[in-house]
Amino acid sequence: MEGVGKDVTLLKMGDQVFGSTGMAFGTYAAYKSLPENGVLALKPQNITHQEAAVIPFGGLTALHFLKKAHIKSGQKVLIYGASGAVGTAAIQLAKYFGAHVTGVWSTANLELVKALGADHVIDYTQEDFTQNGITYDVIFDTVDKSLFSPGLKLLNERGILILGAAGLSKMLQGLWVSLTSTRKVITGVISEKAEDLIFLKELIEAGKLKPVIDRTYILAHMAEAHKYVEKGHKKGNVAITIN
Ligand SMILES: NC(=O)c1ccc[n+]([C@@H]2O[C@H](COP(=O)([O-])OP(=O)(O)OC[C@H]3O[C@@H](n4cnc5c(N)ncnc54)[C@H](OP(=O)(O)O)[C@@H]3O)[C@@H](O)[C@H]2O)c1
Repeated sequence: MEGVGKDVTLLKMGDQVFGSTGMAFGTYAAYKSLPENGVLALKPQNITHQEAAVIPFGGLTALHFLKKAHIKSGQKVLIYGASGAVGTAAIQLAKYFGAHVTGVWSTANLELVKALGADHVIDYTQEDFTQNGITYDVIFDTVDKSLFSPGLKLLNERGILILGAAGLSKMLQGLWVSLTSTRKVITGVISEKAEDLIFLKELIEAGKLKPVIDRTYILAHMAEAHKYVEKGHKKGNVAITIN
């Protein structure tokens, strides 16, 4: 914290914080003014600022959807797009909630996803997981890669399909499925909450959640960072450093 307003009581000058500035039009900046009741928390003590900076995007998204699905211990969960920002957080959180987790990713990310604790791994370039006859209680498609129809067929009778990156037409299809069958489809835009951020901080400090950083760029190289991210194959997150 480089400056604190006169009415702020929860934080003080010099506190090391992390958080989300939410979605907004604007530009990148070294400083940002935020309300103290925003999505802000003290930084986990056991990780760097860069590591803390990448937690809110994937961590809050994964936590929001897994909580909406009421994930329970012992459930069979499939995470699709498991090596992205949302996927790497979703694997670790689903394991924390006691699920049996299968992660789907490409050969290049096999070791990464195993290291995050997935019980079972499927390489989508080698195996068509929609044809192996295994069904799941929860399927979380983090990247919107056409998992709608095949995903529904892989669900148990009261299973839940989470489409974390669905557009409007899939949101409407999902609503129809939820209204007309025993299966449910969860879509929508997440609401970021400070209490969820504090929960993630505590998991990190307990060693249950680890940030995954693929590459780091300096602020002046933001265009290169965007080009890399937009290829759609980053491993976890990309961080920006500010001197
Ligand atoms: N609903 C909301 O409010 C909300 C909030 C935040 C984010 N989101 C959305 O969440 C999405 C995920 O973000 P992210 O940063 O986690 O994504 P990302 O890091 O860009 O995702 C990359 C992942 O997608 C995998 N992938 C790429 N092509 C694939 C394919 N054909 N089949 C299977 N996997 C494939 C990659 O694995 P390989 O490299 O192994 O292919 C990698 O694991 C974004 O679309 C974002 O907009 C939604």
